[in-house]
Amino acid sequence: MHENKFEFSYKVYNNIDELPEEQRSLLKKAQEASEHAYAPYSNFHVGAVAKLSNGEMVTGTNQENASYPVGLCAERVLLASVSSQFPNVPIEAIAISYKSKSQKNDHPVSPCGICRQSLQESESRVNHPIQLILGGMTGEVYVIDSASKLLPLAFTNEEF
Ligand code: THU
Repeated sequence: MHENKFEFSYKVYNNIDELPEEQRSLLKKAQEASEHAYAPYSNFHVGAVAKLSNGEMVTGTNQENASYPVGLCAERVLLASVSSQFPNVPIEAIAISYKSKSQKNDHPVSPCGICRQSLQESESRVNHPIQLILGGMTGEVYVIDSASKLLPLAFTNEEF
């Protein structure tokens, strides 16, 4: 028997102003994009913006439904859009932000489990890491070098 250990590190900035210009601009776009979410049930408006290796920007927001499980997270709306418009173009970075009507928006939120699975495959299909930039409307910002770091022991298409 032996034990394995996962470790990963990520950068924590005190606020958006500390970020390098390109990352700051992407996070601002994600903050703005959250305005376009359709989230009348949770009132939790999420915006995600991707910068692709060809320079294109693509936006996604969460899209809810009266039949709750039909709703989609911003990240997967974004990834589906990238894959449809620019198949096989690597994503360099995705900034994710949110605006909640009932809570403070002063800390980063990270992608849900299903979105982590989608992000992992978006990286592996083009063999390119996706940097995540996570921040609220104010407060700390996390920068994670590769989305797959959020999903250790992932189930992947290498299994079959
Ligand atoms: N949501 C996202 O869009 N991304 C996440 O990473 C977490 C949750 C959405 C789903 C739902 O519309 C609302 O936030 C509340 O869970």
